[in-house]
Amino acid sequence: MKNLGILLSGRGSNFEAIADNVASGKLDANIAAVISNRADAGGIEAARRRGLKALVIPSKGKPREQHDREVVAALLEHRVDLVCLAGYMRLLSPWFVQQFPNRILNIHPALLPAFPGLEAQKQAFDYGVKVSGCTVHFVDADLDHGAILVQKVVPVLDSDDHHTLAARILEQEHIAYSEAIRMVLEGKYRIEGRRVVMKPQER
Ligand code: GAR
Repeated sequence: MKNLGILLSGRGSNFEAIADNVASGKLDANIAAVISNRADAGGIEAARRRGLKALVIPSKGKPREQHDREVVAALLEHRVDLVCLAGYMRLLSPWFVQQFPNRILNIHPALLPAFPGLEAQKQAFDYGVKVSGCTVHFVDADLDHGAILVQKVVPVLDSDDHHTLAARILEQEHIAYSEAIRMVLEGKYRIEGRRVVMKPQER
C-alpha cells in the first residue's frame, strides 16, 4: 500500500476528506505523516485526534531551503510515496520538487490558470466570472502551475458572496482531491507535455 504525506498550514478540511476516504476504504492508501509548518494549524489537531503521525516543522525565520530539507527528511523517514499539499501556504523550493518528481499534488480553489495565488475564490468573485471551481495538479517549481489532473466546475450564483462561493468550491475540493490521488496511485495516466491523459485501455 502506498504512503501519503500531507502538508498543511491551516484548518485541514481537505486533509480530513482524504483521511475519511482512507478510513472508509474508498482510497487504498495509508496516511504516513501529516506535517504542518504552523503549530496552530487546525489540521494538526485533527490528525492527532485521528491517531495519525502529526509533525510540526516550523518555517518561521528559517531560510526556505533549510525548512524544505527538514520536511523532505521527515517525508523520507516516513517512507512517503505521494506528497499532498492541502492548504500548504508555502512555495516549495525547486530542490524539494526534484526530490519527488511527479509525486507532489496540490489543490487550488479556482480553475487554473485563472486566479493563481492567494484568495483565489475572492479573486474569481471580484472578477465577476460566472463559473469557477477547483484544480488538482502536479506541483512543479512555479506557483499553481503544474500539469492538471482533475478540475471541478462550480457556478457562481447571483446570490453568492465570496464566502458562499468558497464553501461550494470546498465541497468539490473534497471530492476532487481523492479522485486525483486515486488516479496517481493507480498509475492509470500518462503525461503528454502539460496534458495528463488516461491510458487508452482504462478509458
Ligand atoms: C483550500 O481551499 C485550498 O484549495 C486552498 O486553501 C484551502 C485550505 O483549506 N489552497 C490554496 O489556496 C493554495 N494556493 P483546508 O485547510 O480546509 O483544506
